[in-house]
Amino acid sequence: QDSLYKEKNRPQFHFTTRRGWINDPNGLLFYEGEYHLFYQHNPYENEWENMHWGHAVSKDLVHWTELPDALYPDELGTMFSGSAVIDYNNTAGYNKGKTPAMVAAYTAAGPDKQVQCIAYSLDKGRTFTKYESNPIIDSKAKWNSPDTRDPKVFWYKPGKHWVMVLNERDGHSIYTSNDLKKWNYESHVTGFWECPELFELPVDGDINNTKWVMYGASGTYMLGSFDGKVFKPEAGKYVYTTGSVYAAQTFTDMPDGRRVQIGWGQITHPGMPFRGMMQLPTELTLRNTKEGPRLFSRPVKETEQLFTSVRKETNLTTERANQLLAPYSEADGLRVKTTIKLSHATSAGLNLFGQRIVDYDLNYNKLNGLFYSPNDPTSMVISADIYIDKTSVEVFIDGGAYSYSMPRKAEDNNKEGFHFWGNNIEVTDLEILNVRSIWN
Ligand code: FRU
Repeated sequence: QDSLYKEKNRPQFHFTTRRGWINDPNGLLFYEGEYHLFYQHNPYENEWENMHWGHAVSKDLVHWTELPDALYPDELGTMFSGSAVIDYNNTAGYNKGKTPAMVAAYTAAGPDKQVQCIAYSLDKGRTFTKYESNPIIDSKAKWNSPDTRDPKVFWYKPGKHWVMVLNERDGHSIYTSNDLKKWNYESHVTGFWECPELFELPVDGDINNTKWVMYGASGTYMLGSFDGKVFKPEAGKYVYTTGSVYAAQTFTDMPDGRRVQIGWGQITHPGMPFRGMMQLPTELTLRNTKEGPRLFSRPVKETEQLFTSVRKETNLTTERANQLLAPYSEADGLRVKTTIKLSHATSAGLNLFGQRIVDYDLNYNKLNGLFYSPNDPTSMVISADIYIDKTSVEVFIDGGAYSYSMPRKAEDNNKEGFHFWGNNIEVTDLEILNVRSIWN
């Protein structure tokens, strides 16, 4: 047991399971002092199949305790992605005395169709009882599509009813319900794929100016309005949040109103009996930029407890910056905060053993291959907050206006470790932070 979570290629500060495959986070929920992270889990092997709902809990969004799996495959199918709510008003009739039921909405994926189901728990998600009249929605025939899945349920306060966003064929459908069991189809927005989300956020913190955000698995999102039944996109176009978040979901019932997201890290850990991980929890905010309101994503403040600053310098040449970083290039975990001023360069960035962690091309406004236009391109300044774990790298650009993740390549001794590049660039800020493992 001692060696559990201490294996050579176990991520130090990202959630991973003891054993087996994981993909999407499911049922993210806060209840009675506990954050719940359910997730797509194959407990038997490192491949995607036999989907269960795994389960972990945390008191601080950072340190997680893995519990036994919560949902097991049944005659309707394997347990695909979904969400969970606390039924404070006892709408489904499952509450026991003062204990409200936790109700999970999930997809059962059978050999010929995917149907929506619910299950309830009276012991904080440790054990679930499935609804005897499942499924609650069976819509394959209506959509003539095998892709009907991933229910995201939330309470719509102004209308005092439940809302479900569901991937159906080519987009996200809205359903409503009074009891979590009987659902009415309301509307559909095309252009999304898998793992729907829909939530309201203030712009620049102004609660009198809010917008609804709808997104799908790839992280592309639309801003719009929502009346409890219909989502109306305001700008008919997508904005790309990130290069590589997938199948993210946000927490329901956050105690302080923050909108906190966790995404699936599609990362392999060489030689390990587990595969995949959860990305860092990030707070989502809407902020005005020159392109209008944009979704920002940056690690939640709780993650700060993991990092200790060991070096903080300003106005460095790249040579000096590389010298300072060199001793850390093989660290198990590390965080690097930096600001680069491009001056005359049209491209610049940061390499780690030949891998381009930051790769900014000013001519084409591309960051690591994807479009990114900084808020103030004339300043030619770009900042990056870089989280390097055993097997992954997560990068947050310009305060979270843009973010992406990638696998961390193994060391290659023929190449330099850390290496800034770019013609006459200045490293105007460099901070190096050590990382504490979450498993100690
Ligand atoms: C997204 C996804 C979901 C599905 C789940 C199955 O990664 O394909 O649409 O519910 O994974 O594991």
